[in-house]
Amino acid sequence: MGTRVTKAVIPAAGLGTRFLPATKATPKEMLPVVDKPAIQYVVEEAARAGLTDVLVVTGRNKASLEDHFDRAYELEDKLEGDEGKREMLDRVRDSTDLASMHFVRQHDPRGLGHAVACAAPHVGREPFAVMLGDDLIDERDDLLPQMIDVQAQRGGCVLALMEVPPEQISLYGCASVEATDEDDVVRVSGLVEKPAMDEAPSNLALIGRYVLSPEIFDALAETPPGRGGEIQVTDAIARLTDPSVAGGPVHGVIFRGRRYDTGDKADYLRSIVQIAADRVDLGPEFRAWLAEFVAARLPLGDPDQPLKP
Ligand code: UTP
Repeated sequence: MGTRVTKAVIPAAGLGTRFLPATKATPKEMLPVVDKPAIQYVVEEAARAGLTDVLVVTGRNKASLEDHFDRAYELEDKLEGDEGKREMLDRVRDSTDLASMHFVRQHDPRGLGHAVACAAPHVGREPFAVMLGDDLIDERDDLLPQMIDVQAQRGGCVLALMEVPPEQISLYGCASVEATDEDDVVRVSGLVEKPAMDEAPSNLALIGRYVLSPEIFDALAETPPGRGGEIQVTDAIARLTDPSVAGGPVHGVIFRGRRYDTGDKADYLRSIVQIAADRVDLGPEFRAWLAEFVAARLPLGDPDQPLKP
């Protein structure tokens, strides 16, 4: 079949308005999830899936992103001189040895589709993965390797889909689908960005993993601003569902594993609690504390003196 996917694009140039003021000087992809920035989990996932080249699309606060994946010589020197800090040194170095890291600037945040288009010169004419830096997939539930396999067998584009309750579909891109001969692999016949609940063609939501054919760049070039005045990648992929357009077919892999959304305050809090509770090193103590905390706060009600936002 065609070229195997080796490149990942991580768009991280959004304004992160739901997280202001934390995101005033820091991209939301750099917010810590326990002890690593969210984007590091995503780069680790790319490396586990065999991708060797990662391009991060950065915005106005790019410095911390570039620094995080670069060597930190002074820090490493200090840790190296101290026998007891060996483990910390390894953890610091882990973030630099994951993949060949590249950065490109999206000067104006004109939407996710526009951010993906900024990757065109780096990606060239081969299929590639797009991974949203605030959307985490649990490392115990592989998704990307399956998507890459489906793309290798069927060509075109492969999207990650997840069933969501009907009242939540208006937060996502939504797919119309037809069954294939494989369980959990569907043919995508249409896509609509953030539909109203009563207009949604299904309860299958697009989550932040895509394997795209290079024809997406041609489709993006012809895609006018859509919802919210932004150039939507969903609108460009929708063009490729038309069998007369090159770059398809479009398939979806239905994901039933654990996903953590860190782009929204409440989901971010849930993600941190879930990930910390499952960690071998922190989990046992943290779960015991959490159980006590929850027991003390039930029945639900306002704490005596609620904190200000
Ligand atoms: P979101 O809509 O979740 O990010 O975009 P946002 O716009 O930063 O967040 P809010 O709504 O203002 O809080 C999904 C992904 O696309 C990237 C974001 O960084 C995020 O990872 N993105 C979005 C870009 O890279 N460029 C854009 O112009 C828009």
